[in-house]
Amino acid sequence: MGNFENPSILAAMAGITNGDFAQYCLLEGGAGMVTIGGYSIGREMITASVKIAQRGRKEFILQVGKEANEILREAHTISAYTKLIINLRINNLIDAKKFIRQFADLIIERPIIEINAHCRQKEILQIGGGQRLLQRFDVLTNIIKVFHSNDFKISLKVRGNAINPDILIPRVNQWQLDFLHIDSYRTGEKGTDLGLLEHYINEIYIPVIGNNSVVDKKSAQAILDTGAQYFSVARAARKDPCIFQTFVKNF
Ligand SMILES: Cc1cc2nc3c(=O)[nH]c(=O)nc-3n(C[C@H](O)[C@H](O)[C@H](O)COP(=O)(O)O)c2cc1C
Repeated sequence: MGNFENPSILAAMAGITNGDFAQYCLLEGGAGMVTIGGYSIGREMITASVKIAQRGRKEFILQVGKEANEILREAHTISAYTKLIINLRINNLIDAKKFIRQFADLIIERPIIEINAHCRQKEILQIGGGQRLLQRFDVLTNIIKVFHSNDFKISLKVRGNAINPDILIPRVNQWQLDFLHIDSYRTGEKGTDLGLLEHYINEIYIPVIGNNSVVDKKSAQAILDTGAQYFSVARAARKDPCIFQTFVKNF
C-alpha cells in the first residue's frame, strides 16, 4: 500500500471530489492517491447534508439505505483501488454496521476508509458527527473497530486545532490506524502549522498525512520535512487538478 515515490494525495472536498474528479487527478493530474467524498452515511447524517446543501454549500447527497451502492459507483471510476481513499461521515455505530454489511459484500479489493472527525458544519456537529467524534471516543473507537474487523485500512481525518494532541495521541496509538490525516493550521494564521505535525510525528507510530495550504513545491516539501510520509491538497487541486504534476516532477 501507499506510493512513497509520489506522496501527494487529493484530499476530500464534499460535493466536488467525486469519482470523475478524483480519477482525473490520478490519471491526468499526477496525484499519488485520491480521496472521494465526504459522504454522509445513515438517515441522520444524510438529513444534515440536505440541510447544509439547502443553505448553499456543495454536498454529496446519497439515498438513505443506498449509500454503499452509490459510493461504489463512484469508486468504480477509479482505476486503482490501492490508490483510493473514501471519506465517510458517520455518527453512530448502528449506521456504521448497516453500511459495512452492504459495502463489504460489494467491494472485493479494499480501498482505504477515511473516518471524518474533521467536519465542523453545525448540522453535523449537532448530531455528534465530524469533529464532535473527538469528544465521543467510545463511539469513534467502535466505528474504527467495525471497519477494522472487515479488513479495511483506516485513515482518521482530524483538524489539528480541534483537540489537544496529548489527548489524541494515546488513542491513535491504541486504535491501530493506518494513517492519521491532520489538517494542521493555527486559527487566524496562514499556512501549515508544521510544529503541530512534528509533535504528532514524534509520538505516533503510523504514517501521517500532513494537510493545509499546500500550493506549490515549497509548501509540500515543508510538510514532508516534518517527517510526514504524505501531504494532501484540497483547494489548490480544485483550482488546478493537475497541480500534482508539479510535485511529481520535483520529488
Ligand atoms: C469545499 C470543501 C469541502 C471539503 N469537504 C471535506 C470533506 O467532505 N471531508 C473532509 O475530511 N475534508 C473536507 N474538506 C477539507 C479539505 O480536505 C482540507 O482538509 C482543507 O481544505 C485544507 O486543505 P487545503 O489547504 O489543501 O485546502 C473540504 C474543504 C473544502 C474547501
